[in-house]
Amino acid sequence: MVNVWGLVAILLFVLAPNVSSYDRPGPRKNLVIHRSDDDDSSPDQVHISLVGPDKMRISWITKLSIMPTVVYGMVSRKYENSANGTSSSYHYLKIYQSGQINDVVIGPLKPNTVYYYKCGGTFSTQEFNFKTPPSQFPIKFAVAGDLGTTEWTKSTLDHLSKWEHDVFVLPGDLAYADFMQPRWDTFGRLVQPLASRRPWMVTQGNHEVEHIPLLHPERFTAYNHRWRMPFEESGSTSNLYYSFNVFGVHVIMLGSYTNFEPGSDQYQWLEKDLKSINRKATPWLMAVIHAPWYNTNEAHQGEKESDDMKSSMETLLYKARIDVVFAGHVHAYERFNRVYQDKFDKCGPVYINIGDGGNEEGLATEYKTPNPAISLFREASFGHGQLVVMNATHAHWDWQRNDDDVSVEKDSVWLTNLLADSSCKI
Ligand SMILES: *[C@@H]1O[C@H](CO)[C@@H](O)[C@H](O)[C@H]1NC(C)=O
Ligand SMILES: *[C@@H]1O[C@H](CO)[C@@H](O)[C@H](O)[C@H]1NC(C)=O
Ligand SMILES: [Fe+2]
Repeated sequence: MVNVWGLVAILLFVLAPNVSSYDRPGPRKNLVIHRSDDDDSSPDQVHISLVGPDKMRISWITKLSIMPTVVYGMVSRKYENSANGTSSSYHYLKIYQSGQINDVVIGPLKPNTVYYYKCGGTFSTQEFNFKTPPSQFPIKFAVAGDLGTTEWTKSTLDHLSKWEHDVFVLPGDLAYADFMQPRWDTFGRLVQPLASRRPWMVTQGNHEVEHIPLLHPERFTAYNHRWRMPFEESGSTSNLYYSFNVFGVHVIMLGSYTNFEPGSDQYQWLEKDLKSINRKATPWLMAVIHAPWYNTNEAHQGEKESDDMKSSMETLLYKARIDVVFAGHVHAYERFNRVYQDKFDKCGPVYINIGDGGNEEGLATEYKTPNPAISLFREASFGHGQLVVMNATHAHWDWQRNDDDVSVEKDSVWLTNLLADSSCKI
């Protein structure tokens, strides 16, 4: 039989924008993970995400149409609560029909507490559990972008699972499905062991767009169905940008592949969101994009999602005293000094590019020389980042490199909150 996904691959090479084809060394092969259970109503691809201060969205896929119900409680196999939710599905190019994608919001939940849950109701066989973030410092964020579904991705996920973090933040490029929808299912299965236990807060990258002129004009179909984020709760009208709080940290997830020009919906929402921040309650501000605004790698220079978005939004973030900006897209790690308008500025954000999750395209190894003074550390290796927000003034960042499947700390730095510097007061 002709491989239909092979035909799609050829077609998209001709038609589709936004797919880069760098010749990078050392990629590992893509995994294919099938459903582990032949019970068609059993939960597949379970992941969770924060909703407001004390709720969690549980998302999963079933082959059959079921009532989207989650039972949960603080004691294993004793479920005191239950909640119903919504479901959806999508098709792609008439050759792919997704399962039923279920979303159920549960809560209110207590902070720093383990909850046990079942997707699909009490009769479902498999029990999952997660821990809610604490309501005091320290708060621990794990960060890695551009994950994909390779053996390197698996290595990154293994390292992440050994570090007791509260929330995972993904700066875009999740599955690298690149139109081949079954890869989204593999990705969902690959991340389930981790993403069913800790909230995964994601934003979109170029690999999430997946539109094909004439054939599939809609953008972000799979992403928006499968990875619904809490956008309404932050006054946003789009799943492509939103914000959330984790105790004293306000996190702004921006959309690099939707409108960002001054006056656009996203821009107006960002202005409103920044104005609404209470710096006493959330002294730390973090922003997350996909295409980096600062980047000394040869890869992805001169893209409008980097340059035009930076022109549009950099001053807004600067004036709001954003502490740190995470980006992905470039498959490497780079940490900058505090920067504003291409120069060191002690009241500017620290920029960190962490598109090093391990996808099939491999690493971006070529750098601009000489190294500009604002770039403090750069290396083309896979890995992940760990941000521990210790208290209102201090946070510790470190970058862990995947060295032959061992996680090794390669870069670390103390960050001080911008409001702690009286000359940066707004
Ligand atoms: C969920 O829906 C079922 C079926 O309609 C209903 O019996 C049950 O009471 C609902 N549960 C909640 C918590 O609303
Ligand atoms: C915040 O944490 C840093 C690093 O652990 C520590 O040096 C500092 O004294 C702490 N500040 C307060 C107010 O506890
Ligand atoms: Fe990307």
